[in-house]
Amino acid sequence: MTRTIRLHVNDRAYEGTVEPRTSLADFLRDGLDLTGTHVGCEHGVCGACTVLLDGEPVRSCLLLAIQLDGARLTTVEGLADGEQLHPLQQAFWDHHGLQCGFCTPGILLTAKALLEETLHPTDEQIREAISGNLCRCTGYHFIVQAIRAAAAR
Ligand code: FES
Ligand code: FES
Repeated sequence: MTRTIRLHVNDRAYEGTVEPRTSLADFLRDGLDLTGTHVGCEHGVCGACTVLLDGEPVRSCLLLAIQLDGARLTTVEGLADGEQLHPLQQAFWDHHGLQCGFCTPGILLTAKALLEETLHPTDEQIREAISGNLCRCTGYHFIVQAIRAAAAR
């Protein structure tokens, strides 16, 4: 059994067919070709699959696409404005906030939600906000620095 759902992703309307068991992460990647949403653990632990649902970070591996019919989402593809990087993306670039980049989409979106709520977060608040996003490369220091720099901009 499949069902057609409609989503607003990055201010664009999409329609697609899903099975009841299709996760949102799989639908974004395989159904909509939005492969910037990464899938790591598929158990809600690593945060690589984080997207924004009505501006709030959620684990797209834990949500079923069918539950989100009509929802409004932001993925990492929605951050840049054409060739113009989002201030957070630019700050990650400038401050070496990534190495392999696998965790980066999820961290960028988590940071976006943080900065929309707290314009000038402390390092402690930044670390708390990204504590659910695992990075195996950077040691987090440059990520925190990048988010702080983006906030300053
Ligand atoms: S893939 Fe969703 S939390 Fe790890
Ligand atoms: S940059 Fe490699 S996991 Fe974070």
